[in-house]
Amino acid sequence: MLLKDKVAVVTGGAGGIGRALCRRFAAEGARGVVVADRDERAREVAAEIGGRAAIVDVSNEADIQRLVAEATEAYGAIDLFVSNAGVLVGTDVNTSNTDWQRIWDINLMAHVYAARAVLPAMLARGEGYLLSTASAAGLLTSLGSAPYAVTKHAAVALAEWLSIHYGPAVKVSCLCPQGVFTDMLNSNLGDPEAEFLKLEAVTVEHVADCVIEGLADERFLILPHPIVNKYVNNRASDHERWLRGMRRLKDQMQAAREAGQK
Ligand SMILES: NC(=O)c1ccc[n+]([C@@H]2O[C@H](COP(=O)([O-])OP(=O)(O)OC[C@H]3O[C@@H](n4cnc5c(N)ncnc54)[C@H](O)[C@@H]3O)[C@@H](O)[C@H]2O)c1
Repeated sequence: MLLKDKVAVVTGGAGGIGRALCRRFAAEGARGVVVADRDERAREVAAEIGGRAAIVDVSNEADIQRLVAEATEAYGAIDLFVSNAGVLVGTDVNTSNTDWQRIWDINLMAHVYAARAVLPAMLARGEGYLLSTASAAGLLTSLGSAPYAVTKHAAVALAEWLSIHYGPAVKVSCLCPQGVFTDMLNSNLGDPEAEFLKLEAVTVEHVADCVIEGLADERFLILPHPIVNKYVNNRASDHERWLRGMRRLKDQMQAAREAGQK
């Protein structure tokens, strides 16, 4: 899919990767871009690119339904829905039930709500595109946060399932970056895992370039860090070895954390 003359809705569009996607879609000549976020900065992004803002909480299904209805009303149809809003919370299994539920609702259920809301019209038209922002953590793991790893795996699984069931009429892509310089990474700098991810982190503009390319190719996996493909193959070809390697990395990070606390 080329963005020219298309209508796109982007959740999490007020900042980070989502804002870069909104800007890039507008620059590619999209007919309409809806910047959806719970953060009021969505209005600034929309004003900057000549799009529309929608203040929504993606973990609330009624908000997603309203978002889709208003975007459809304004532009006639939605060609591309990007479920990009996400949060990184929690640590291990002792993360509170409240936080497990919150991250589940944002990182996974919001994608379910979006699919429910947009698929009927896309299927009726015989075309449409869903893009999910998951993470390399959804193909591999996240050492510092079990809830993040689990919810991102779930987002990848849902995107695969949607692609199998609704493709090729409805296209599905899944964006799986490793570190990207956004508030999510920057606010954790100092922590060994964030410092590790920073080493190979990329800019949001690079991610947007990769998304434009991936959408043009209608490719399922969009990997701004090509090395992730190698890690995925390593994991698939020898799971035991991959787990041993990840344990070693976890120990190194734990040691770095303890050294930092002294
Ligand atoms: N930054 C990274 O290193 C990285 C790596 C891989 C994947 N990701 C994923 O990329 C996506 C975008 O993250 P980012 O790095 O741009 O972070 P970010 O924190 O800069 O942006 C996330 C945006 O989502 C919005 N948001 C969060 N919860 C919301 C909710 N309930 N309703 C509506 N909006 C909500 C926030 O207000 C914010 O504008 C996330 O899904 C994240 O998990 C980020």
